[in-house]
Amino acid sequence: MNKEYFNIKDNCRKGLLKYLSKAISIIPAIDNPLILDIGCGSGIPTLALAKNYNGTITAVDFDTKSINRLEKKVKELNLSDRITIINSSLFDLELEENQFDIIIAEGLLNVVGFNKGFSKIIKLLKKNGFFIIHDEFRNHYKKTKFIVSNNCKILDSFRLDEHVWWNDYFKCLEKEISSCKNKDFLELFKTDLHEIELFKRYPSKFISIYYIIEKY
Ligand SMILES: C[S@@+](CC[C@H](N)C(=O)[O-])C[C@H]1O[C@@H](n2cnc3c(N)ncnc32)[C@H](O)[C@@H]1O
Repeated sequence: MNKEYFNIKDNCRKGLLKYLSKAISIIPAIDNPLILDIGCGSGIPTLALAKNYNGTITAVDFDTKSINRLEKKVKELNLSDRITIINSSLFDLELEENQFDIIIAEGLLNVVGFNKGFSKIIKLLKKNGFFIIHDEFRNHYKKTKFIVSNNCKILDSFRLDEHVWWNDYFKCLEKEISSCKNKDFLELFKTDLHEIELFKRYPSKFISIYYIIEKY
């Protein structure tokens, strides 16, 4: 896929990074943590984590194109000794259980199913480790009950409303796409244009939520 396409998507994705920083600020400082970024995509959160923490990060995604892109960035930034990249589905992962201090799942559980994904991921987290989930805001009470029933405590949660999604993501994407003149290039953004249209029609469906969780 076109490099410029990914550059635009990554650049607009960065607008939401401040909310990951807010979520991270809620958990206590950990020196040299072992971090898992599951469903890392092309790694915008992964690289932000590498800046925030002095530990090591394992980044996992089953999408090969996104993983290849992250691999390139990691090499360019000389972060290969701190970031391990795994091209795999969450459900095929064979990582040691109870090993990570912090796990991040941004935009993954709404794709794989909340309970199914949570149950697989939580096994990888250490006792007293922290799990940050960024999810669609749907079935909130069911989800909180499920989290608590898995020996976990919700330390905090906060929502990103439709204004946040517009101002910090979709506005950027729309502006970048509308400045494209090349028709073939525009074709790459078909799904994104559809998403922007859906957002404009049903903005409240795009509200999302961060859960900041501790396992005990
Ligand atoms: C909405 S994107 C979020 C990417 C990244 N976390 C971010 O916030 O920019 C969801 C990601 O989950 C990945 N994904 C979906 N199902 C997966 C699975 N079963 N195992 C691993 N990754 C998966 C997709 O390939 C995609 O990159």
